[in-house]
Amino acid sequence: MHLTRLALTDFRSYRELSLELGPGVSTFSGPNGEGKTNLVEAIGYLATLGSHRVATDTPLVRQGAERAVLRAAVTGATGSALVEVELNPGRANRVRLNRAPLPRPRDILGTLRTVLFAPEDLALVKGDPGERRRFLDDLLVATAPRYAGVRADYDRVLRQRTALLKSAGGKARLRGPARESVTATLDAWDAQLARTGAPLLAGRMRLVAALRPHVEAAYQAVSGGPPGEAPGMSYRSSALNTDDGFEDVEMAALETALLKSLDGVRASELDRGVCLVGPHRDEVELSIGGLPARGYASHGESWSFALALRLASFTLLRQGHEDPVLILDDVFAELDAGRRDRLAGLVAGAEQVLITAAVPADIPDVLAGTRFEVQVGVISRVG
Ligand SMILES: Nc1ncnc2c1ncn2[C@@H]1O[C@H](COP(=O)(O)OP(=O)(O)OP(=O)(O)O)[C@@H](O)[C@H]1O
Ligand SMILES: [Mg+2]
Repeated sequence: MHLTRLALTDFRSYRELSLELGPGVSTFSGPNGEGKTNLVEAIGYLATLGSHRVATDTPLVRQGAERAVLRAAVTGATGSALVEVELNPGRANRVRLNRAPLPRPRDILGTLRTVLFAPEDLALVKGDPGERRRFLDDLLVATAPRYAGVRADYDRVLRQRTALLKSAGGKARLRGPARESVTATLDAWDAQLARTGAPLLAGRMRLVAALRPHVEAAYQAVSGGPPGEAPGMSYRSSALNTDDGFEDVEMAALETALLKSLDGVRASELDRGVCLVGPHRDEVELSIGGLPARGYASHGESWSFALALRLASFTLLRQGHEDPVLILDDVFAELDAGRRDRLAGLVAGAEQVLITAAVPADIPDVLAGTRFEVQVGVISRVG
């Protein structure tokens, strides 16, 4: 699929922007701070209903404005669609598809599919486990939008169960009927957590298994390094031993395993007032040449790994489907000449690639495509 038009009102530094886009490569260059990342952030938001830079919507609305409006026209195998999002910080956002309001914003997911690589992705390798869980969950949603519901259900149960653990914590030494009542309520929440957690866990484990060969190939392709530096990726569950091919296990068995493991930690959970097992405590372990990437990998290796995760996502998402829009924010400045050329070769065939760079010369010639300049919030076509 590809974007044919993007229009922004009061998004970040843009008061008003209207941009025609075509398939193939488009590059956006211009000095630091002129709005290149703001542009790709808006496109990412239309695809995922979230920013890759901030967790709340407030910074996305232009300083002094009340709301922001983002619009994109998307053309794909099934025709064209108009996606619109109105950001109202502090109030409900509004989402429209082909001008019809969607009661549930998340129903827009899947209309525009993107893979966005940005410098912030370094956190996928160097950051907390939460970064990698979010990466997996976002990719799950991109592969199958129904996972947005799976994730929302799990988050809701987790919040409620955690609240119960907190309030029950002080009563750990209760006896008699009072204790029985807490136990019965927790039992019910354990069942809910296992029921909603199992499909999330299953989805993530299958995803890691499917992604792994593509990550290895992409890392090798970008780094051009010897096979000894092969990257590793494995899912580590807080609830069960995932060493031996758990990705094939049936849902009921996963649910049972989660329940059993919840049972085993009940006493410490009550003591500490936190939920100790479940997908929200899991980790995706990344390694290079057998050493943990986090804490060991060099800056360049970490960067290549993060890029490989995104390129692998792209490969996975295009399998059996049309291409997502591939967005590379500021990727070339960090790469040496060999890596630049190899990356260019990898992405040149995608249906639509949007590339930003502060220095246009950093972009390899094969990716020249349609050139835009970004200056003080104005985007003009230059080639
Ligand atoms: N809500 C907002 N309202 C107004 N201006 C904003 C808002 N959020 C960000 N900006 C401005 O947008 C600019 C940053 O734009 P952006 O991140 O797109 O730059 P860039 O072109 O990607 O730069 P670089 O080359 O350094 O990555 C900053 O000057 C910032 O002050
Ligand atoms: Mg930028």
